[in-house]
Amino acid sequence: MHLPLTAALAVLPALALGQVSGSGKTTRYWDCCKPSCGWPGKGGNPIRTCDRNDNILNDGGNTRSGCDSGGNAYMCSNQSPWAVNDSLAYGWAAVNIAGSTESQWCCACYELTFTSGPVQGKRMIVQASNTGGDLGNNHFDIAMPGGGVGIFNACTNQYGAPPNGWGDRYGGIHSKSECASFPEKLKAGCNWRFDWFQGADNPDVTFRQVTCPAEITAKSGCGR
Ligand SMILES: *[C@@H]1O[C@H](CO)[C@@H](O)[C@H](O)[C@H]1NC(C)=O
Repeated sequence: MHLPLTAALAVLPALALGQVSGSGKTTRYWDCCKPSCGWPGKGGNPIRTCDRNDNILNDGGNTRSGCDSGGNAYMCSNQSPWAVNDSLAYGWAAVNIAGSTESQWCCACYELTFTSGPVQGKRMIVQASNTGGDLGNNHFDIAMPGGGVGIFNACTNQYGAPPNGWGDRYGGIHSKSECASFPEKLKAGCNWRFDWFQGADNPDVTFRQVTCPAEITAKSGCGR
């Protein structure tokens, strides 16, 4: 294969950094639990976690998850998605990248381009905050309040959510009007799903690793 020299040089930085790309799938969740990148030894600073009242923990890295009895580390409400503009959003996700490990993806950022559903063509940059034993390869489980608690649920303990979380255990609530009764700090992220994200239901993506935007690392307290 003969690439023009400029094209060959352009791919070198990505290769040197071991940055990954490919196609994948998405789901959604918000379980209120301490995300697993909140523990030390995952390749950088632990991602910021919050106490039951959503105050940032000074030693979140060594604090037990609110998903375990007696634990007091929860997902901070400001790790909710937001719209940068109509075609770009920022947020966080639990991820599983084929051929990588958690210590490689924790706090790394991935640009997702949606390839199906109403959001087809829109982009979202997510920072990996979590992983999950139930995730397949190249799977981004996008964190959005009201997206369903999934396997674990700290939302009942933290916010008094119903026993299986808001809405269905998997998939969460069904309409924007349900966001109106959410805790104040989770409303904007809940609304985002029905505004910017257009209520998309697990759209497919292509993805590539990118440098994290400063607006994301300012909230999460970690990067690569
Ligand atoms: C959205 O914001 C990004 C990043 O600032 C920018 O590159 C892009 O042109 C913007 N798109 C629109 C439609 O404004």
